[in-house]
Amino acid sequence: MRIMVVGGGGREHAIIKKLKESKKITEIYALPGNGGISADAICVNIGAKDIAGIVDFAKNNKIDYAVVAPDDPLVLGCVDALNEIGVPCFGPTKAAAIIEGSKVFSKNLMKKYGIPTAGYDVFSNAEDALKFLENAPIPTVIKADGLALGKGVVIAFTKKEAVDAVKSIMEDKKFGDSGNNIVIEEFLTGPEVSVLAFTDGKTVKPMISSMDHKRALDFDKGLNTGGMGTIAPNPYYTDDIASECMEKIFLPTIDAMNKEGRQFKGCLYFGLMLTPNGPKVIEYNCRFGDPETQVVLPLLESDLFEIMQSVTNGTLVDCEVKFSKKSACCVIMASKGYPEKYENGFEIVIPNEIADSVYVAGAKKNDGKLLSAGGRVLGVTAVAGALKDAIDASYAKVKAIKFDNAFYRNDIGQRALKATEDR
Ligand code: AMP
Ligand code: GLY
Repeated sequence: MRIMVVGGGGREHAIIKKLKESKKITEIYALPGNGGISADAICVNIGAKDIAGIVDFAKNNKIDYAVVAPDDPLVLGCVDALNEIGVPCFGPTKAAAIIEGSKVFSKNLMKKYGIPTAGYDVFSNAEDALKFLENAPIPTVIKADGLALGKGVVIAFTKKEAVDAVKSIMEDKKFGDSGNNIVIEEFLTGPEVSVLAFTDGKTVKPMISSMDHKRALDFDKGLNTGGMGTIAPNPYYTDDIASECMEKIFLPTIDAMNKEGRQFKGCLYFGLMLTPNGPKVIEYNCRFGDPETQVVLPLLESDLFEIMQSVTNGTLVDCEVKFSKKSACCVIMASKGYPEKYENGFEIVIPNEIADSVYVAGAKKNDGKLLSAGGRVLGVTAVAGALKDAIDASYAKVKAIKFDNAFYRNDIGQRALKATEDR
């Protein structure tokens, strides 16, 4: 079968490498892919937001199945457009992708169906929001309604920070129309867990849990980023908590989306916080997480393509989704200066013997050389029986990769390791 994967980051590289293990697949195209992905798929220079271009490509190249991985094309209705020309897809329709596309929608959904989340208020003008802040408890959390590259969330530890956040989102339009509405919510505490789950709108099969490291610097200091590394499984996510989440969060969410006439099919990402009052939803994403995918898929023992097809066909209940009992760690190598200003164009040298476990996020090919071309450049994953060994192996691989201007955190997995040892 001829498969097309929409997107061009480390997550898409991990999806493509896993799909390549499936015997049913003869050809994989990546739109647009990147210089590193070109070792594993045929990259086509069509942007992930160019829905008309994607549809044309699928039509002209007899694509049998499409995986739409990033949030933007999903929210723009890429799956609907491909379905219209008869291409089956992995990913939610536009109507269902709103669960990530609008925080106001997802908060209201949780409230209506009693799904545990932080208390909140919605504002459509700055004046009302600023008035509300006069008596709001601090810290408080301010979120732009729409997509904002993971940067639309401000945790305000002082009233001034809260006021500045409202002004920059609603008045200065820092995130454009994404900030026409905002959510101001209760500040929660507790360990965070990412759970990606396959669902066909009837059955939910969660993948192995993981832990992201969002801050740029060691010990969770510095700015928020797209994610500087991940480990799986997440030691805080015990079997008891998993059962509680299934009962109180996962199944009720699928049910709620069905009742709203927005059946969700694809990968639903639950960003959870394990608070002293039980697990609560911090955010939903309508897609695989990045870099969570880079630790979750290497632990998947079942055939990813068969699972994806069962999600599309509504037969997930009969499909095995099995994970290894091992642990995985992914360390992101970024460009120095990320997530702010950074320089690109440095040659990346990856030893052949570790290329299988490198997921390239931002690089281009030039005269046969791989050059850095992004804030996050690549992720390096290792799998081992014990978390500590996975962490050590992943850092050993990082040290074997050479590019000038490389930057990475040194403490990926350390908090998880401590939680394991404290048990
Ligand atoms: P998001 O971009 O929605 O994933 O949010 C970024 C980060 O902000 C999350 O990973 C949390 O660490 C934090 N965050 C979001 N909402 C809350 C909240 N209500 N209370 C405390 N922290 C939060
Ligand atoms: N790693 C967080 C995300 O994919 O949104």
